[in-house]
Amino acid sequence: MKNNFKNTIINGDSLKVLEYLPKESVHLIITSPPYNLSIDYANHNDELPYEEYLEWMKQIWKGCKDVLVKGGRLCINIGENKRQNINTPTHSSFIQQCSELGFLYRGTIIWNKNSSAKHCAWGSWQSASNPHIVPRHEYIITFSKDDYKLDGEKAKTDMSGDEFMEYTRSVWNMGTESKTKIGHPAPFPLELPKRLIKFYSFQGQTVLDIFSGSGTVGVASNDLDRNFILIDNSLEYCELAKKRIEKRMNNLFSTENNVEIIDFEKLDMNVENENIVLL
Ligand SMILES: C[S@@+](CC[C@H](N)C(=O)[O-])C[C@H]1O[C@@H](n2cnc3c(N)ncnc32)[C@H](O)[C@@H]1O
Repeated sequence: MKNNFKNTIINGDSLKVLEYLPKESVHLIITSPPYNLSIDYANHNDELPYEEYLEWMKQIWKGCKDVLVKGGRLCINIGENKRQNINTPTHSSFIQQCSELGFLYRGTIIWNKNSSAKHCAWGSWQSASNPHIVPRHEYIITFSKDDYKLDGEKAKTDMSGDEFMEYTRSVWNMGTESKTKIGHPAPFPLELPKRLIKFYSFQGQTVLDIFSGSGTVGVASNDLDRNFILIDNSLEYCELAKKRIEKRMNNLFSTENNVEIIDFEKLDMNVENENIVLL
């Protein structure tokens, strides 16, 4: 069997890595893909022609389906379109794509960002001629593979009754994360993957983020006793993720490297368990 890559960060292109990961080995995928809104990422052009962007995403969701176990969940965080010339909202295209791939739709969570940010994009000020809606929310769209039910022991659940009640509500109030504090142009708040992990997986299971950036899903998984696999094509962000996770691992006085970064391009595809190149 191929190495299962548990608790590692893979520096590589997510589409290629997804093809290589063992099939049916992941219980939960939480990810926030590039939104194609011209963010200045270290190693990605965030201004693809829109059709090309959608086609890329569809291939990604297909790869996600292959690596999920039966009953495994896919949670995609995506914002509202800002461009007025795109008539179909991206989250709705993603729902369509995932349904066509055979995913079972579980529902949509509205992330209310509680934003008090000032803005000046009202369109036609105080006139009905062309006022704009300024988004203060994002979406988390959720799916299951093949079965709504996920196998796992009830004893491995770590949600309180109050948390369960809160998470079942479709609007989640969470502030945003500071880009400067984290050192990444688009991190989501730690609370977001923490809620999804508790709600949708059991302790000891494996959580994957295919666009892991600063590694927030890895931090949350580590905190909540899940295994993680992170993928990002920027070495800079992989190193940031490693640093953030190791800081949480209670090893402040240890010089040991707990989290490995694997250079995907240097992996020997013909060798199944050995020869993993660590950076
Ligand atoms: C929206 S950010 C994810 C942020 C993450 N949720 C966090 O909390 O830091 C998207 C990430 O996708 C990565 N990315 C873009 N294209 C990629 C590709 N082809 N393969 C792997 N990662 C890619 C970018 O480097 C960026 O870190």
